[in-house]
Amino acid sequence: MKQRLGILTSGGDCPGLNAVIRAFVRRASADEMSVLGIKNGWRGLVENDVEPLTRSSISGILPRGGTILGTSRFNPLEDPDSLTRLKQTWNKYDLGAVVAVGGEGTLSAALELWQEHDLRIVGVPKTIDNDLCGTDKTFGFDTAVSIVVEAIDRLHSTAEAHHRVMVVEVMGRHTGWIAAYGGIAGGADVILVPEHPFRISNVCELLERRRTQGRLFSIIVVAEDAKPSPDEDFLDEATRAEIYQHDCLGGIGMFLAREIEKRVGVETRVTNLGYVQRGGTPTASDRVLATRFGIKAYEMIVAAEWGRMAALRGTQIISIPLEEAVIDIKRLDEEIYRVAQVFAG
Ligand code: F6P
Repeated sequence: MKQRLGILTSGGDCPGLNAVIRAFVRRASADEMSVLGIKNGWRGLVENDVEPLTRSSISGILPRGGTILGTSRFNPLEDPDSLTRLKQTWNKYDLGAVVAVGGEGTLSAALELWQEHDLRIVGVPKTIDNDLCGTDKTFGFDTAVSIVVEAIDRLHSTAEAHHRVMVVEVMGRHTGWIAAYGGIAGGADVILVPEHPFRISNVCELLERRRTQGRLFSIIVVAEDAKPSPDEDFLDEATRAEIYQHDCLGGIGMFLAREIEKRVGVETRVTNLGYVQRGGTPTASDRVLATRFGIKAYEMIVAAEWGRMAALRGTQIISIPLEEAVIDIKRLDEEIYRVAQVFAG
């Protein structure tokens, strides 16, 4: 039966979102289904802000970063009025199903909308942080890591020229995937991740050892949520509260650099890569993964697999219950952490 299907992108943007949209529209159009693009995440359904997506409207979007649909962190379940309006828009367009492309927040809302309100939703996981359970990888991660690696390569030459310590702060929310992959691939000397609180004395000893061995520069990659261990905490309470806000992490790099300068007496500079990690064109690998997820989302709709999410397991794209994806966050693999430690120093 020909149906009208919806697609939305929600939460922080991520390279590869347009590849999902393109793949979904191309696959659905081949079956003569029509697709409605919902603007700015769930907000578009609440505010009746939608646009038809056709083969021509998605032409040329594969290499583009961001999302042609816009995004927001709006949660329609936070007030009853939003939910009522969301359902009105859904019924107005007689949507057969909606694909929600998002991270943990988006997918939790998707699960509740399906379980409690019978709205037919399938999920597609996205995040540069790679912290979603149930899938081996999320698209956007590979792109973010490649941006970190390019930055570290560039920082190496200037650090070497000035005999400096360079602190590179990277995203990743409560996990160290970007820091560990970026740091390993970029040849960082120290990699600090949220999963393992760090001792500042160990970091400084390592830097001093490098200097006595004639290595006069060092690169430190620090994840935005990496924390000093409580027994050697050099942050005061107000600074801690400022850096580790759940919705807006950032700033540990600067305080770490100051502490290193104070203790080791070496010029130390900070680069916070920030939103650069989220912008721009996706890598080939992210384009392929996002495309496979977009196709799978369509197949899941055809198979009436509601409340489930496309996921990568090994080399296969499978469908898993949304509960599996949102039950926890996927923390950095210990094996990857151990690999990073081999190169410390
Ligand atoms: O989840 C992706 C991410 O970029 C995190 O790495 C970062 O902590 C957060 O989003 C930033 O969110 P916002 O766009 O709301 O500032």
